[in-house]
Amino acid sequence: METLITKQEIEKRVKELGQQISRDYSGTVPVFIGVLKGVICFLPDLLRNVELSVEMDFVVISFYHGKKKPGMLLMERGIELDIKNRSVILVDDILDTGNTLSLLIDHVMNKGAKDVSVCVLLKKERKREVNIEPNYVGFSIPDKFVIGYGLDYQERFRNLPFIGVLEDEPNV
Ligand code: IMP
Ligand code: MG
Repeated sequence: METLITKQEIEKRVKELGQQISRDYSGTVPVFIGVLKGVICFLPDLLRNVELSVEMDFVVISFYHGKKKPGMLLMERGIELDIKNRSVILVDDILDTGNTLSLLIDHVMNKGAKDVSVCVLLKKERKREVNIEPNYVGFSIPDKFVIGYGLDYQERFRNLPFIGVLEDEPNV
């Protein structure tokens, strides 16, 4: 496996993102919404670098593999906090096709949020199915399948402290 981003590079960049969000949201109490399971490393590290009062919640989104509309995204757990008139920051591990974040932005706005921004650790350089421009990006990466620091291949590798590229690109 080839290392794409080291543990030290991640730490440095996550700290910068936390500081930037702290400046941008100064004087407010933003609500961070993380997308499970991919944010299990990124969100807690990010929050430890945010010097504000914050609230947080999680959503769970999965692929629907059934016979009707295969490939459709399913929200298995939505936002439970009251986010009416609140500033929301959506946090995901990676922006790929854009479908997940687009579904979530709609979900957040339907719940009456005041505003929403998007923070991703990784942004794949590719043509997206839905055009999403995240407000905060850790790293722009080539269109390759990556693992580690929360990102999985068939549920494995989430615990790696760095981001790596799987040599034989799996078909997922
Ligand atoms: P989307 O295609 O932008 O909706 O990406 C949604 C999800 O696909 C991400 O939150 C990841 O869980 C997963 N994903 C996309 N690209 C990769 C990858 O390279 N490695 C691991 N998971 C990925
Ligand atoms: Mg994910």
